[in-house]
Amino acid sequence: MVSSLDQLKETGTVVVTDTGEFESISKFKPQDATTNPSLILTACKNPKYLKVVDKSIEKVFTRNIKIDIFNELEVILDQIIVEFGTEILKIVPGRVSTEVDARLSFNKEKTIEKALRLIELYENNGVSRDRILIKIASTWEGIQAARELEFKYGVHCNLTLLFSFIQAVACAEANITLISPFVGRILDWHKANGTLEDVDVDPGVESVTRIFNYYKKYGYTTIVMGASFRNIDEIKNLAGCDFLTISPNLLNVLNESDELIIKKLDSKKSVKVCNDDKVNVIDNESKFRFEFNQDQMSTEKLSEGIRKFSADTNELLEFLKQRVQEFKRVNKL
Ligand SMILES: *[C@@H]1O[C@H](CO)[C@@H](O)[C@H](O)[C@H]1NC(C)=O
Ligand SMILES: *[C@@H]1O[C@H](CO)[C@@H](O)[C@H](O)[C@H]1NC(C)=O
Ligand SMILES: *[C@@H]1O[C@H](CO)[C@@H](O)[C@H](O)[C@H]1NC(C)=O
Ligand SMILES: *[C@@H]1O[C@H](CO)[C@@H](O)[C@H](O)[C@H]1NC(C)=O
Ligand SMILES: *[C@@H]1O[C@H](CO)[C@@H](O)[C@H](O)[C@H]1NC(C)=O
Repeated sequence: MVSSLDQLKETGTVVVTDTGEFESISKFKPQDATTNPSLILTACKNPKYLKVVDKSIEKVFTRNIKIDIFNELEVILDQIIVEFGTEILKIVPGRVSTEVDARLSFNKEKTIEKALRLIELYENNGVSRDRILIKIASTWEGIQAARELEFKYGVHCNLTLLFSFIQAVACAEANITLISPFVGRILDWHKANGTLEDVDVDPGVESVTRIFNYYKKYGYTTIVMGASFRNIDEIKNLAGCDFLTISPNLLNVLNESDELIIKKLDSKKSVKVCNDDKVNVIDNESKFRFEFNQDQMSTEKLSEGIRKFSADTNELLEFLKQRVQEFKRVNKL
């Protein structure tokens, strides 16, 4: 019997897993993998991976990078993020997503600068930019930064915290490599808000389906990658989507199930099923902001997501502070 996981792959969907844990990555052999501040924080606290942290600290101090005391921790944090990414790339055949500091989400120039810095560190490790996706929040500034990174620097981007159609439209027009619209978090919001009208209609699944069909109808090449799933049904209803990123838990469930998976998203049918007219927004900031603001769920989920990743980054820096002090004490720096 073919497992549901294998059937899902047969619909043409590329499966990616969300984890900073090398072991579950080797177990599930996803094509690509991703990291974010929360995953890195969890991994750093795991004694097994402390050597990655220490190696990064050592690299920064022995390479004599000129760093002032105020951004010393940030330089080390960038190195750690890249070190984890480099390790992951020894296991997965495809790409690793690496997040730009969420605290820069409303600053286009700083986002570009940080992205180029991460790429430089990867290249120092012998990893080419083709294997990296720079993950950026889908704010107006983030999308504009990604547009420039793609166009001017050949840096591929993964636009995250994407909840609305208008964000997806802007990303497609900006020629972004990949977007990761969230499915489960949309459902969460509607449940919490008491606006789930029909239990059989999952608003997260509907949102991704609409984006997928819009992209295919108008010939956009930006990859649609559904993310943040709460249950197997959401995954089943998006079978056929370009990519899906699935947690190790749900991957296990899919692997152990032999339930039938039917292709639900099909680019050949998009012209027929998509009712949206073509929208132009990439050069119209006020239109983007207005349309985005019309959607209460998206505005709330985007700002919540940025707050959460920023808090995790701060916690990570706090954790590193102690580790770095220890390193300096031992090495009499
Ligand atoms: C999937 O299940 C099969 C059989 O149940 C097992 O041998 C295999 O290790 C599992 N694969 C993963 C990735 O868990
Ligand atoms: C892109 O980012 C999302 C959201 O963080 C993540 O779930 C996904 O795995 C990433 N995609 C790839 C291909 O790395
Ligand atoms: C995106 O790519 C298309 C086709 O290559 C090009 O015509 C367009 O100008 C690009 N858009 C942006 C915003 O760079
Ligand atoms: C739920 O959403 C509606 C509009 O969609 C809004 O009027 C209402 O204030 C929201 N309620 C909560 C509790 O967020
Ligand atoms: C931006 O969009 C608004 C609203 O759709 C429109 O009225 C305006 O003409 C657009 N501006 C430009 C420069 O295209």
